Amino acid sequence: MYKYSVSILGTGFIGLCSAASFAQKDIKVVASTHDEKKAKMINDGIAPFFEANLQEILDEIKERNPDLLQCSTDPVKAIADTDISMITQGTPMRDDKSIDLSYIESTAREIGMALKGKDKYHLVVVRSTVVPGTARNLVGKIITEISGKIPGQDFGLCMQPEFLAEGRSIEDTLHPDRIVIGEIDEQSGAMLQEFYEYFYGDHLKNCPIMRMNLESAELVKYGNNCLLSTKISYANEFANFAELVPNVDIVQVMKGVGLDYRINQKFLGAGVGFGGSCFHKDVNAIKTWSKSMGYTSRLLEAVLGINDDQAIHIVDIAEQLAGKLEGKKVTLLGLAFKPGTDDMREAASIRIVEELLKRGIKNIVGYDPKANKTAEIEMGKKIKYANSIEDALKDSECAFLITEWEEFKSLTPDDFKRHMKTPNLIDGRRLYDFDRFNAALPFRAIGRVNLK
Ligand code: UDX
Repeated sequence: MYKYSVSILGTGFIGLCSAASFAQKDIKVVASTHDEKKAKMINDGIAPFFEANLQEILDEIKERNPDLLQCSTDPVKAIADTDISMITQGTPMRDDKSIDLSYIESTAREIGMALKGKDKYHLVVVRSTVVPGTARNLVGKIITEISGKIPGQDFGLCMQPEFLAEGRSIEDTLHPDRIVIGEIDEQSGAMLQEFYEYFYGDHLKNCPIMRMNLESAELVKYGNNCLLSTKISYANEFANFAELVPNVDIVQVMKGVGLDYRINQKFLGAGVGFGGSCFHKDVNAIKTWSKSMGYTSRLLEAVLGINDDQAIHIVDIAEQLAGKLEGKKVTLLGLAFKPGTDDMREAASIRIVEELLKRGIKNIVGYDPKANKTAEIEMGKKIKYANSIEDALKDSECAFLITEWEEFKSLTPDDFKRHMKTPNLIDGRRLYDFDRFNAALPFRAIGRVNLK
């Protein structure tokens, strides 16, 4: 018999990784999606997308107790049959860069419908990234309107932001560094805290639980993603400073900065700029939200501007090194927004391709160990897609290292010389040993200029 039953409304990275992790610890989980194909895959124990260790956990659940994790296309029933409902729907960016809360809204309606016919206290937890006020003024209000139930009395309401990074979703779910609980009242927060005490057990000795109001918790998530993005743009700005002085190396500079115990080394890696499903979306969402509330952010505007400019800057560097690239074949090594994924959302490669096209460079070939297919969906015929490094480099006159995949790490200057027509190489991730490559071929890298 299980102690908790939870419905997880949304089966993306957060939803499915939580669902699988909970079920593995004997919590009864009903995940819900409107996508029948996806539901079938989950019910068959097959991960509908790749995420490290997810399939292994699904296999274990299937073998040990498949009833613990079910996936339904009937969210109202899933909610009605469980005690806690977690909203894990996506909150994409609209064309005007504001947050799109439509999935949250429709899920709140489904919760309202389910709670209408339910007498037992039910806890609703928003785990999607949402702008301050959403849990109380949108989710709470819609549920009340539809069910007639009162938050804090008939149902509990919490906001628990997620800090999962792709490729680490399971690891981050199982070993969080803190749990932030925003609560509409003491009872709601206490119930969620108790749930996590049960789920995490001993791990909580090293993981503080912080309780606060709903809006503060909503803002914590933006605080995190905005600070991480700011660190990257700060490192990229300093990379541009470093390039003003021969023989200054941004890698050493950021290491020196990051050794300060108040700062730390993480997310100070200069490069082609950040991508991914969260940083752009969240920085834009909070910036647009604050403007709508009467406050204009100057910092976040700069963070995004610096990030966009890195794509222009890397093409500038390439043309300084190789001369005008128009009419020449150029190569992009790596297309995904980071290694270990085929995710192309907001990838720097897209911005670089746009910049190359703007300058009349049409013969662009990309190669990514995992993301060729997703890149083609995103960029279509704007570039060609090679099946190997060799193919991508063949006859090329300038190569850009965009994503720091393992298989690119072992390339030597000779590999570039052997395959390319003229071996101009631009290291957009500081992957290669600068002195070795700079001595061996025409080479430039973000954040370091050496005169030979
Ligand atoms: C991020 C956050 O880390 C996570 O907490 C949040 O929940 C979702 O957004 P993710 O987008 O999966 O996770 O990837 P992350 O590893 O953070 O990298 C984001 C981007 O920043 C990548 O394009 C990466 O290449 C870039 N990056 C990261 C840098 O350019 N320099 C760095 O030093 C670190």
